[in-house]
Amino acid sequence: DRIDWKPDAVELGRFEHYMRKEIHEQPNTVRDALRGRLRLAEASAQFGGLNLTARQLRRVRRVVFAACGTSWHAALLGEHYIEKLAHLPAEVEYASEFRYRNAPLDDQTLFFVLSQSGETADTLGALREARRRGFPTLAIVNTVGSTIAREADGGVYLHAGPEIGVASTKAFTSQLVVLALLALHLGRLRHLSYDEGRRLIAALEELPDQIERVLAIEPQVEEAAHRMVQATSALYLGRDLNFPIALEGALKLKEISYLHAEGYPTAEMKHGPIALIDPATPSVFVAPRGGLHAKTLGNIEEVRARKGPVLAVGTQGDDQLARLVDQMLPIPEAHPLTQPILACVPLQLLAYHVARLKGCDIDKPRNLAKSVTVE
Ligand code: G6P
Repeated sequence: DRIDWKPDAVELGRFEHYMRKEIHEQPNTVRDALRGRLRLAEASAQFGGLNLTARQLRRVRRVVFAACGTSWHAALLGEHYIEKLAHLPAEVEYASEFRYRNAPLDDQTLFFVLSQSGETADTLGALREARRRGFPTLAIVNTVGSTIAREADGGVYLHAGPEIGVASTKAFTSQLVVLALLALHLGRLRHLSYDEGRRLIAALEELPDQIERVLAIEPQVEEAAHRMVQATSALYLGRDLNFPIALEGALKLKEISYLHAEGYPTAEMKHGPIALIDPATPSVFVAPRGGLHAKTLGNIEEVRARKGPVLAVGTQGDDQLARLVDQMLPIPEAHPLTQPILACVPLQLLAYHVARLKGCDIDKPRNLAKSVTVE
């Protein structure tokens, strides 16, 4: 009952690489992740396969996620969503660590694994370890009928369709959408107001069109890629919900362009990474308008003072930011919780175009596998 997605069964169409095709599919895959899951009248979300009642979900006091790679980054944003919308403590574990770490869980902990493929050995190991200890397990998975999907007690499918490119893109944004919906659902069982719920739903529904607008700046991203291609190392900086986006942007670049990149929380820069700044080391700030924007502008000035080249993902119309950096990649103004979903798209494209300029094998990067089924 496994569905095998073979590359040749999926058309490339007008695209040269699966990665770019999948990046461009995101308006649709986000729509598919939302489909049938919004409960407008209740300002909440619903899931067919969670297999938990409202009463059981209300008893939850803590959420733990385990995952690897890009799915782990999605879980980091999930932690923010759960904390902000449901006011529940949430933690994210590397699946490979969790399975041997003997981490304390209790009866009021909700345990999730996240996996695009549903076959990652470390993630499956974490799921089995939680089950062995008698905990109900939930999975957020893309591949229908995969081992993780079959072994979990319940879960949510991404419905993103086959992802062939080794660097995960559309599965990541779908994971974020599903995590936001889960947090909305858990929040609406607790403190989250009807109005706040409706605002988030409206923001999620706006995403496909907004992603379309981000994809339209691809020529600008290509220009930015030209600025990066000579570098041997880059820093990605973001804070709050954009810190996981910085990590994911750096991972994308590493995976397919083999350019060394590090993601850091913006304010942490001064505690070490700033030593790396020089005219040959670009910094990429994920800096849409919002809470701590003024502080981020200060951090960018510190990089400029050390002659570091700066790219930024910023809110359209943010002239102050645009003046401060070598190039700003604009994303539309959005709800604070959906903004990071938009911010990751230019970074996916940036990694793609840097890799293309370097002539890398984008869909089959060296040393990596789409799903790692060994420990
Ligand atoms: C591999 C891939 C990564 C991916 C990770 C987790 O290492 O190269 O791109 O993020 O596995 O995959 P999963 O299918 O579990 O999400």
